[in-house]
Amino acid sequence: MKKLCLHIGRLLLGGLLTACASTQTPAPQTVQQYRIKNEAGTIIDVTNYGATIMSIITADRNGEFADIVLGYTDPSRYKSDPYNPNMGATIGRFGNRIAYGKFSIGDTSYNLAVNNGSHHLHGGRLGFDKVIWDVHAIEKNALTFSYLSKDGEEGYPGNISVSVTYTLTEANELIIEYVATTDQTTPLNLTNHTYFNLKGEGEGTILDHELMINATTMTPVNEILIPTGEIVPVAETPFDFTRPKKIGQDIYLKNEQLEYGYGYDHNFVLTKDSHEEHLTLAATVYEPSSGRYLEVHTEEPGLQFYTANFLRGEITGKSGKPYLYRGGFCLETQHFPDSPNQPTFPNTLLQPGEEYRSTTIYTFSVR
Ligand code: GAL
Repeated sequence: MKKLCLHIGRLLLGGLLTACASTQTPAPQTVQQYRIKNEAGTIIDVTNYGATIMSIITADRNGEFADIVLGYTDPSRYKSDPYNPNMGATIGRFGNRIAYGKFSIGDTSYNLAVNNGSHHLHGGRLGFDKVIWDVHAIEKNALTFSYLSKDGEEGYPGNISVSVTYTLTEANELIIEYVATTDQTTPLNLTNHTYFNLKGEGEGTILDHELMINATTMTPVNEILIPTGEIVPVAETPFDFTRPKKIGQDIYLKNEQLEYGYGYDHNFVLTKDSHEEHLTLAATVYEPSSGRYLEVHTEEPGLQFYTANFLRGEITGKSGKPYLYRGGFCLETQHFPDSPNQPTFPNTLLQPGEEYRSTTIYTFSVR
């Protein structure tokens, strides 16, 4: 087996070791932690459990480094903590909810694992966030994870071969690339569920962060967070983030959609400029006290903006502080929730012979 000695740090027993990684590494069946970094000093830690992003350590405007994503210090906690709300994880086969865990392809009906009231959420009880992925080290600043999801897993048809590659560039971009193929028609909607707090994880709420979402419409939900199927304008609603505004500015306004979500927990329909290449700007976030600035570009048509409305302080974070209600935000680039049951939403069925490819880029800078 061909071996490549790479500049990828691998954390074992708290020590940073240099990996001599293989191009065809067999799956380690234990939960491991890996590190990629760049010359700018940005560090990203990931684990093979759920192909999960554990930390992203970036500089503020004074050059002070902080970890800006919620998570655990010990990778085994992602599995063992019953409160873990998918922090940092790769979500699949289907990001967000599928109503009652049911959908049909042609004349065939499927029943998925139900794990969110009567509904299927984030791939079910043992979604892609709750399995150990194979790891393939490919170059200095990049790591690829792969997983074979078997026919019938969580009720889905077909064997899916899926990979996710994390690349950290010298321009401080975290490029996330998903590739998948299947041997039967199946829904597929991959995303990443990182919770950001640009002040630093555990540093209070994200209500002062200034957010722009490149979307003039969104998909409203019913009281159990299933899309109604409508696509409605955001203008003159709390969902208008077309110009940067503090996340907290309208979050307490009386609004049925905000009541259903306990805050923002909604899919935005991204504005796509036909003159641009596949990747378009989805969102920007600025945190005034640190100066940190995040840009999100994606090929996906939707963005689930979630303000950590189900965090309640049960989780003690990496620096020992509790993760509070609205202590983070997620910008989950994806297709729209419940697409397999919503004929007017963009298609999420992957066919045999097709290749699923999707890229999202999170870019970190300061202002
Ligand atoms: C979000 C979802 C929320 C909540 C959260 C927990 O993506 O929209 O409703 O379930 O994940 O992980």
